[in-house]
Amino acid sequence: MKLTIVGGGSTYTPELLDGFARMRDVLPIDEVWLVDPDEDRRGLVAALGRRMLTRAGHPGTIHTTGELAVGAADADAVLFQLRVGGQRARYGDETFPHEACCIGQETTGPGGFAKALRTVPVVLDAAETVRRAAKPDAWIVDFTNPVGIVTRALLERGHRAVGLCNVAIGFQRRYAKRFGVEPHQVRLDHVGLNHLTWERGIHVMTDAGERDMLPQLLTDELAETAESVHMAPGLVSMLGAIPSYYLRYYYAHDEVLSEQLFEPPRAQVVAETERVLLKKYADPTLDVKPVELERRGGAYYSEAAVDVLASLTSDRGDVQVLNVRNDGTLPFLPDDHVIEVPTRVRTAGLAPLPVPELPADIRGLIAHVAEYERLALDAALNGGRERVTRALLAHPLVGQWRRAERLTDLLLEENASYLTWA
Ligand code: G6P
Ligand code: MN
Ligand code: MN
Repeated sequence: MKLTIVGGGSTYTPELLDGFARMRDVLPIDEVWLVDPDEDRRGLVAALGRRMLTRAGHPGTIHTTGELAVGAADADAVLFQLRVGGQRARYGDETFPHEACCIGQETTGPGGFAKALRTVPVVLDAAETVRRAAKPDAWIVDFTNPVGIVTRALLERGHRAVGLCNVAIGFQRRYAKRFGVEPHQVRLDHVGLNHLTWERGIHVMTDAGERDMLPQLLTDELAETAESVHMAPGLVSMLGAIPSYYLRYYYAHDEVLSEQLFEPPRAQVVAETERVLLKKYADPTLDVKPVELERRGGAYYSEAAVDVLASLTSDRGDVQVLNVRNDGTLPFLPDDHVIEVPTRVRTAGLAPLPVPELPADIRGLIAHVAEYERLALDAALNGGRERVTRALLAHPLVGQWRRAERLTDLLLEENASYLTWA
């Protein structure tokens, strides 16, 4: 199998290659192509990757190119993990909203919107090249944030795409450890939009049968459960579900904002980690994934990627949490919206499992953010100041006219070099 990684020069890539090396029996990869505009980085990452595969006794080969059409030629699957503007643009996303008393984050709120505006056109352009170059039935697996908006853009244009995030697999791994079972013995009732999700059931399967451990986690272990997502126990208990840590940007907006004003932005921390990582990658004796990679948010993303690629190509028919077309799963959202839910994965396609009715508060927030996402995609595809302001005003973390206008100015100024229409 030939796999192409768009944004292959990312410092994250060895995480992915480590997964391929470890899980060779489920995913028989022959060739990996790292596509990246940065020649030095793709070379460094490829050289480390080759040492890692050699160490693991993996027969696969790693190739590099700056030309997507070359890298994607006859590919069986293409992974998108690009970051338009790098950590520099991310720094902007994490700071400009502060001027309007809003949290700064690369996927949530005004920062996530700025990222969508920069990213959607680039991803759609790349996807057209993939359509011409790769095998006709090749899947696009999208890690590029904001995953919900980007995946919907791809599906709208008729690409065979699925969006991926590591939040669910992170919860699965955490609770497998807590209950002393293997990850595949934990099944989550995970629901929402990408980076706006709740766990409404934590089913643990053992020889004795299946049991939902959520009630125990929300009573006897409430303090630990709430602490693990940095939220108040009373909130988690009232929700009757475990929110992902991304929901802190909503449920504790003002607290997060005041923390952010005194802490270095994540982009700055990550840029420093990347400097250390790239230095290590250049060491010709290094042939394993460096520990510094564990300081990145993307823990387990290699396992999520291997799982989905294996099931898409070998028809295992298992269930994974993915970003897919709603198609009535959440009846209050349009069919073509992209939601993040447990999904049965077959080579023929993806089928989200039915979701029990949601409580009003969770349903309301999902619906609100979904409508913002639709306006955000409209702005990303069609441009124009008015579309930008409309999407900002529709975001639950903005909601006020003065703030939306101010954020529009800040966003457009910060991103002028990326937005051809601005
Ligand atoms: C998590 C999220 C990803 C995000 C990453 C950021 O993995 O699910 O969508 O890209 O965190 O990690 P970083 O180390 O760059 O802050
Ligand atoms: Mn994610
Ligand atoms: Mn359940």
